[in-house]
Amino acid sequence: MSTTTVITGIGELVTNDVERGEEGGLLGIVREAAVVLEGARVAWVGPAADAPDADVQVDAGGRAVIPGFVDSHSHLVFAGDRSAEFEARMTGEPYTAGGIRTTVARTRAASDEQLTSHVGRLVAEMRAQGTTTLEIKSGYGLSVHDEARSLAVARQFTDETTFLGAHVVPADTTPEDYVDLVTGPMLAAAAPHARWIDVFCEDGAFDVDQARAILAAGADSGLRGRLHANQLTYGGGVRLACELGLVAVDHCTFLAGDDVAALVSSGTIATLLPGVEFSTRQPYPDARGLLDAGVRIALASDCNPGSCFTSSMALCIALAVREMRMSPAEALHAATAVGAAALGRDDVGVLAPGRAADLVLLDAPSYVHLAYRPGVPLVAGVWQAGRPVL
Ligand code: NIG
Ligand code: FE
Repeated sequence: MSTTTVITGIGELVTNDVERGEEGGLLGIVREAAVVLEGARVAWVGPAADAPDADVQVDAGGRAVIPGFVDSHSHLVFAGDRSAEFEARMTGEPYTAGGIRTTVARTRAASDEQLTSHVGRLVAEMRAQGTTTLEIKSGYGLSVHDEARSLAVARQFTDETTFLGAHVVPADTTPEDYVDLVTGPMLAAAAPHARWIDVFCEDGAFDVDQARAILAAGADSGLRGRLHANQLTYGGGVRLACELGLVAVDHCTFLAGDDVAALVSSGTIATLLPGVEFSTRQPYPDARGLLDAGVRIALASDCNPGSCFTSSMALCIALAVREMRMSPAEALHAATAVGAAALGRDDVGVLAPGRAADLVLLDAPSYVHLAYRPGVPLVAGVWQAGRPVL
């Protein structure tokens, strides 16, 4: 029999289970609550007064518990540092995709062990900040060998791995030859290690036709598509994602009316990455307009060495609330349940019987503190698959 744990004395439990919330609203909040974990799953949720016994008892002391964050977009497999690029940006230089090639050179030069230990450190950093489900992309290898090994490293830490060979065209080849490589031998080497395929669809990276061809080749190899689109300029990337019925399209910073209409009618989730706008001094995406139009929004970190080197989902929530006019409830929902949906998952992001026992105890009476106390480490405990990991 698996070990059971009861966490009781929860002042505010965010379940994301709308059936359960007494107050209505997105978050399915239960007050004076308890939750029972059995093995890797949630077994019971309800009023603390009715909580069953369990092998292990934890008293939350009136504090808040939320589902673990689902970070659906990160680029953790890299080596090297680009803080000088960030410093230059803060004094007026623009962000360009060209910096990716700097990281490619450093990543190719790193050993498997160096890459693995670096990813491990970043994953631990994320976990300590409440992230319990994580997507990791390749994209700093850009050769058959280096993309495949980047994904093999990522796979040691998550099942949600994404082949991003189409990040930029390496300096020593032509766009045509490179797309042939990505859709041919590189895809064949990457596919066994990946669940998803992604393309950076942007001026200076890959255009809509190239993205369409790359995603089609990925689909033929069993990989589901996602897209980086409309990050730096207006363009057709978001509409392509919607036309293809992708589960999510990421960035969505420069959107025209047609793009919003396409998101509404396709149901494709817009994954917003406000840490990028913070770290590049770009305008923030119009989250309020998207939500009011009926678009589902996920929030993710985009943790990477170039455009945004934060691993903090709490920071993304605070930015979404302060800079993108999301309510604290909308932002937490976007960082948990909708993040899960953006990975095609319904086993995580919601605390209900049968779902993953992935949850975070906050050193705060309410989830609102995630935005109200920006920059303050509020994570007091993390359970992943039912085990305490912090
Ligand atoms: O999501 N947009 C493309 N890729 C990353 C940035 C990569 C880099 O600058 O190293 C992003 O922002
Ligand atoms: Fe990204």
